[in-house]
Amino acid sequence: MKISKLAMVLIFLAACSQEIDYDPAHDYLTFANTDQFVTRQIALDLDVDFKTTTLAGSVVLTLQKMDPDAREIVLDTRDLSIHSVGVVGADGSVKPATYRVGERHEIKGAPLIITLPSDLESNTSMLVQIAYTTSANASALQWLPAELTAGGKHPMMFSQAQAIHARSFIPLQDTPSVRVTYEATIRTPPELLAVMSANNDPLTPRNGEYHFEMPQPIPSYLIAIAVGNLYFAPLGEDTGVYAEPEMLDASVYEFADTQDMLEIAEIKFGPYQWGRYDLLILPPSFPYGGMENPRLSFLTPSLLAGDRSLVAVVAHELAHSWSGNLVTNATWRDGWLNEGVTSYLESRLMEILYDKDRVDEERVLNYEELLQNFAVIPAERQGLAPRIDTRDSESGQGTISYLKGQMFLEYLENGFGRDRFDPFLFTYFRDFSFQTITTEAFVDYLDANLLGPNPGIISRADVEAWMYQAGLPEGALIPSSSTLTHAAALAGAWSVGEATLDDLPLEDWSPQALIHFINSLPDDLSQEALARLDGGLDLSGTRNAEIARAWFIQVAKRRYEPAYEQMAAYVNRYGRMRLIGPVYSALAANGHDKALAESIFANARSTYHPITIASIEKTLAQAGVAK
Ligand code: BES
Ligand code: ZN
Repeated sequence: MKISKLAMVLIFLAACSQEIDYDPAHDYLTFANTDQFVTRQIALDLDVDFKTTTLAGSVVLTLQKMDPDAREIVLDTRDLSIHSVGVVGADGSVKPATYRVGERHEIKGAPLIITLPSDLESNTSMLVQIAYTTSANASALQWLPAELTAGGKHPMMFSQAQAIHARSFIPLQDTPSVRVTYEATIRTPPELLAVMSANNDPLTPRNGEYHFEMPQPIPSYLIAIAVGNLYFAPLGEDTGVYAEPEMLDASVYEFADTQDMLEIAEIKFGPYQWGRYDLLILPPSFPYGGMENPRLSFLTPSLLAGDRSLVAVVAHELAHSWSGNLVTNATWRDGWLNEGVTSYLESRLMEILYDKDRVDEERVLNYEELLQNFAVIPAERQGLAPRIDTRDSESGQGTISYLKGQMFLEYLENGFGRDRFDPFLFTYFRDFSFQTITTEAFVDYLDANLLGPNPGIISRADVEAWMYQAGLPEGALIPSSSTLTHAAALAGAWSVGEATLDDLPLEDWSPQALIHFINSLPDDLSQEALARLDGGLDLSGTRNAEIARAWFIQVAKRRYEPAYEQMAAYVNRYGRMRLIGPVYSALAANGHDKALAESIFANARSTYHPITIASIEKTLAQAGVAK
C-alpha cells in the first residue's frame, strides 16, 4: 500500500492531537505550587490515638522559595482538620498565617492555601508549622481493633502512602517530584512500638515515645508509620524483621535469605544507601504484597507459605531501594521507571539466589497476565508511558508498567548483552541517585549511554515504540518454561481423562507450576471434574495464598458452588488487593453472582483497608458492565 506524503503528515498530526497539551514533567495529581516553593525537610510531632483513631499534633515544613514573587504556599491535604498555621520568623517566634482549605476534589483531596505574613514575604527559606488532626477515615491509615491482629490483645495501625495518600495524614507537597528528609516524634500507648520508614533502632526502649530520623531525602509517598505489639528479630547483620510475636518465628524462617539478597543486590546494582534493611510483617488486611518504604519494607503475611516460595516479593521491595527509592519516577505517569525496572531487578536477584527455571516460571505467569491486560485495557494506555492525562492516581494500566516494563529491560539486556547492560544500569543508579526522572529524560540517557555508543542494535525509535505504543513491540522476548509447558499439557490431558491426578508430579512442582495447571484447565470442565480436583489436591484448603488465588478465581468463574464457603473465607482472610480483587471480579462477572459478591463484600468490608475498600467498590461497580 502506498501512502502519499501529505496523507502521512495528516495521519501523524491526527495521532499527535490528543497528546498536544500533555506535559510529561507536570504532576497532575498535586495541588502544590512546586515551581514556587519546594519542601526540603519535614518534622512531625504526633500522638497516635487508638480511641479516636486519629493522629493529632503538628508538622513543621522547611520550604525553599524558588520564585521571589510567590506569596502563597499551596499544600495537599485530604480529610485533615487544620487547627492553625504559623510561619516561624528569624527569631524563632511563630507568627500566625492566614490560610484556607479549598474545595475538595474527588481524587486529589483539598488544597491548603497559606498566605505568607507580609514581613516574611521576602525570606528565601521558611518554616511553616501546621497543627492538625487526621480523620478517622484517612485514606492512608488503617486502624485495626485488637481482634483483627494475630495476637488479638492489642490494636494496631499502619499507613500506606503510595500513590497520593500521604496527604491524608500529613499536609504536604504530595508529589514524587519533591524529596524531603524527615524527623518524627511519635507518642503511642506505652506498651506498643512505633516503627517508621526511618532509622528504627532494634534496641529502642518500649516506652510509648519514639524518635525517628530519615536523613536521606525521599519522596512523600515513602513516608510510613506502623504502631502495634511489634517485636524485632534479626535476620542477618544489617537485616531483620518486625512482627507481632505470634508471627515472628514463621517470619524469620520465611525470610531467612534477606541478608543474602541485600548483599547480592549491592554487588549488582551499587551501594545500598539506606543503612539497615528490615521487614515489617503486617496483619492480613495490608492492601499490597509489599511496599518499599525505605529501610523498612511493609509486607503482607500472605507470603508466609512455610516454604519460602513467595519471597520474590521481598526481592522486589528490596530492589526498590535502587529503582524507585534512589531514582524516583517524576510523576505517577512514569510509574514503569519504578515498577518495571524493579520487576526486572527482582528477577535478576531471584535468578542469582535461586535458579533460572524458577524465574522463568514467574516470567511465563507474568506474560500471561500481561496478555490478559492487553485484552481489556484501551490501546492508548498500553504504552509504558502513555501521553494522556488520566487525572487519576490509578493509571488504568493494570500491571502493564510492571510486566511490560520488565520485558522492555529484558529486551535491552538481550540486545546489548549483560556485559554492557549491567554497567549501564549501575551507572544509571549512580548518576540519578536521590533524583527524580521522567520517561523522556530516561530515553535521552539511554540513547546517550547505551544505544548511541553501541550503534546498530536497538534504535531510539525501537525504544519509543515500547514507551508509546500498544501491545508488545517486535523483538520482545517471549518467555517459556518447560515445567509450565508440561503442566499445561497435563491440564489438557487430565481434563479429557488421559491422565489421573496421580500422574501430576506434585512433589517436583513449584506453586507456580500448580498455578499454571489451574489456569490452563479448559473452559468446559464439568462440575464433577472440579470436585475431583479439589478433593484430590485440597485446593480450597491450601495454605499457599497464590495457589488459593488461582483456584478461587476458577471457582468463581465456573460457579463451583461447593467451594463458595471457602472462597468467602479466603476473601475475608486477606485484604491484599491482588489476592482478592480478581476473585470478586470473577464472581460478580459470572452472570449469576453479582449480588453474592456484593454481600460477601458487605460482610468483609470492615476488615479491609480504605484503599482496598475503594478498589473493590470500583471492581464491583464495573463488573458486568461492558468495557
Ligand atoms: N510499590 C508497590 C506497591 C504499590 C503500587 C502501592 C502502586 C501503591 C500503588 C510495591 O512495590 C509492589 O509492587 N508490590 C507488589 C509486589 C510485587 C512483587 C509485584 C504487590 O503488592 O503485589
Ligand atoms: Zn513495586
